[in-house]
Amino acid sequence: MTDPFVRYLRAKVSIDDAAINRGVFMAAKAAVAPGTPGEPTRVLDLGAGTCSMLVRAVEWGLLRHAHYVAVDADASVLAAAKAQLADWARSRGAECATTETEELAIHGDGLEVTVRLVHASLDGFESSPRGFDLLIANAFFDLVDVDRALERIKPWLARGARFWLTVNFDGETIFEPEFEPVEVEQRLLDVYHRSMDERRLSGEAAGHSRTGRRLFSQLHRAGARVEAAGASDWVLFPRQARYAGEEKSFIHHIMDTIALELGRHADVEPGELSVWLDARRAQIEAGELVYIAHQLDFFGSFGT
Ligand SMILES: C[S@@+](CC[C@H](N)C(=O)[O-])C[C@H]1O[C@@H](n2cnc3c(N)ncnc32)[C@H](O)[C@@H]1O
Repeated sequence: MTDPFVRYLRAKVSIDDAAINRGVFMAAKAAVAPGTPGEPTRVLDLGAGTCSMLVRAVEWGLLRHAHYVAVDADASVLAAAKAQLADWARSRGAECATTETEELAIHGDGLEVTVRLVHASLDGFESSPRGFDLLIANAFFDLVDVDRALERIKPWLARGARFWLTVNFDGETIFEPEFEPVEVEQRLLDVYHRSMDERRLSGEAAGHSRTGRRLFSQLHRAGARVEAAGASDWVLFPRQARYAGEEKSFIHHIMDTIALELGRHADVEPGELSVWLDARRAQIEAGELVYIAHQLDFFGSFGT
């Protein structure tokens, strides 16, 4: 049976496809070399999950010849990435082989991409200096201490390396229609957002609910220049009481995540939480609930 988180990432693909800011992407596409056979673009993808960003970068014409290093702390998503990339390559008429160094080599259909899947946390990952031309991270920087992460990553990036950081949560979770009493939902969502600000992993800060807006100053402090920025909100709504594709399971997953988090907070009254959850889950089943998450995308460069 597929891991629920892998299923969530699969459902997220088309939702991110719709959300990722096209103006920011076009700025990336204008600036990033798609690579040549002799000089592949060297890409670092942090929190790569099932490598949806690699597929997207190729499908959207950002990369053609690349050496792609996908780092993730979760082994099961990387195992799924390996299988999904092979299926994807075949569907494009390309070949996908595993090399002696355990890299995936995808080639054919004008494409030459080697992929190294690295099971490591950002703190555990090591790279040689100036090894990457492009940093990609989708739905990742809101899970880490950004200042610390950027300090760690910078030495691995070539002079003038570019970054494309997408789907960074920015503090707004919106549900429609309005829940009565409004203050109850607001109180619950405030606790949910605060839990992101207070998240600790191995004693270190790990994420912030307003990562999107904070990235402007954090990137600046790290010596990076933001060249394009824009919203990449998830906006999920039923059409004639039906959600498209995987949207329904995706919203249920979001609701389960909120339920799990709020369920362990002493300042949440369990009865109030369960009334709210029952009402919102019933609205998903009835094809009535609108869900919006505000997020921001960034493209730019690190020094020259
Ligand atoms: C929300 S998922 C996004 C996955 C993928 N980028 C996507 O959009 O489909 C975040 C991913 O980051 C990984 N992750 C979280 N913290 C990490 C860390 N400190 N180091 C490496 N990976 C991390 C998780 O395992 C997860 O796969």
